[in-house]
Amino acid sequence: MACKRGALIVLEGVDRAGKTTQCNRLVEALQLSGRPAAMMKFPDRTTTIGKLINSYLESKSDLEDHTVHLLFSANRWELVPLMKKKLEEGTTLIIDRYAFSGVAFTSAKPGFSMNWCMNPDMGLPKPDLVLFLQLNPATAAQRGQFGTERYETSSFQQIVQRRFEELIADTSVNWQVIDASQSIDEVHENIKRLSVKAMNAAEDWPIGELWT
Ligand SMILES: Nc1ncnc2c1ncn2[C@@H]1O[C@H](COP(=O)(O)OP(=O)(O)OP(=O)(O)O)[C@@H](O)[C@H]1O
Ligand SMILES: [Mg+2]
Repeated sequence: MACKRGALIVLEGVDRAGKTTQCNRLVEALQLSGRPAAMMKFPDRTTTIGKLINSYLESKSDLEDHTVHLLFSANRWELVPLMKKKLEEGTTLIIDRYAFSGVAFTSAKPGFSMNWCMNPDMGLPKPDLVLFLQLNPATAAQRGQFGTERYETSSFQQIVQRRFEELIADTSVNWQVIDASQSIDEVHENIKRLSVKAMNAAEDWPIGELWT
C-alpha cells in the first residue's frame, strides 16, 4: 500500500503574532514524536523570484503593486512541485504564511479587490488546516517595535487584520483561530492538538485545490 500523505498546515496572522516561533516548535514536536515534518516559509527569499521580493520588502527596489502581488504568487507556485513531492512522500509541511497573507496584504492597498488578489493563487495545494494566530495590536506592540521593512506600520497592519477577518469568514477553508496572547507553551499545545487531528484526517484524502 502506498504511504499515507503528509498534511499541509499553514500558520497565518499579523506581524509578531508568533508564527515563526510556533512553526519551529511544531516541526520540532512532530519530529520528536516520530512523524516526518518539515517547515517552509513564504516568501521564500532564496529563489530568483524570492530575491526580487526581498529587495522590494527591504525597500531597495520599487515594483508596481500588481506586479509585486503576482511575484509573491509566482513564488508560491514555483515551490508547488516540491510541496507535492514532500506531501506524497508522507512529510507534513508546516508553512509560515501562504496565499492568505498574499491576499490580505495586497488587498489592504487602495484599488485592489479581494477577488482580484485571490485569482493568481486559485488552485494552489489547499491547506488541510490554517491556524490564525489572533493578537490585538496593543499586545503585539509589547513584543517589540515594528521592523524597518515595507508594510511594518500599525495603520497598514490594521487594514491587513480586517482583510484576514474577511478571509476567515470563508468556510471552504479549514480555519482555526488561536488566541496568540497566551504563553508560547500554551499556544504550542493548542496548535499541536489541532495539527495532529488534521494530520490524521488528511491521510485518507487527496490534496485539495485552494479557492476552486
Ligand atoms: N506567546 C508569546 N508570548 C510572548 N512573546 C512571544 C510569544 N510568541 C512569540 N513571542 C515573541 O514575539 C516576537 C515575535 O515572534 P515571531 O517572530 O514568532 O512572530 P511572527 O508572527 O513570525 O512575526 P513576523 O510576522 O514579523 O515574521 C519574538 O520576539 C517572540 O519571541
Ligand atoms: Mg515570522
